[in-house]
Amino acid sequence: MKKEQNIVLIGFMGVGKSVIALTLAEDFDYTLIETDALIEQRMNMPVSSIFARYGEEYFRRLETKELARLADIERAVVSTGGGAVLREENVAHLRKIGVVVLLTATPETIYERIYNDLNRPLLSGDMSIEGITALMDKRAAAYAAAADITIATDGKTVTKIAREIRESL
Ligand code: S3P
Repeated sequence: MKKEQNIVLIGFMGVGKSVIALTLAEDFDYTLIETDALIEQRMNMPVSSIFARYGEEYFRRLETKELARLADIERAVVSTGGGAVLREENVAHLRKIGVVVLLTATPETIYERIYNDLNRPLLSGDMSIEGITALMDKRAAAYAAAADITIATDGKTVTKIAREIRESL
């Protein structure tokens, strides 16, 4: 890995971005940054309430602002929200921050991990394998285009996924 390169994790809800980011941050002694948490702190409300009260477009604008603010960070692992790659300007921000690692999982794996999670507003109307598949299909090209490295997470432990990422940097 290039010396002191930031790591940016992207991927669909439930691929494990947060937990993997935490592990990598500990491994490298880097700062952990969660863009959803930055947005929640700034708005002082959970992501689900931001969606409910102001809508997705508003949330996306906040997300873009937070990503832009991260341009100069160092020694950090950045865990993004699942929709962060949907705006091209966001992808430019992510690439500027560091190496972009895409985590993937099948819709079945995702469903197992998040079916009872209430803080996933985009799936609250259709929390099913079909709903996940449909949204994932819509986003597949955007994820692939943004990624420097892709790691499949199905059936792997956090330790193994983190090791694979470290080895591929
Ligand atoms: C979103 C994913 C969420 C959060 C918001 C929108 C998405 O983050 O940013 O609910 O569009 O996929 P996680 O991927 O951490 O669940």
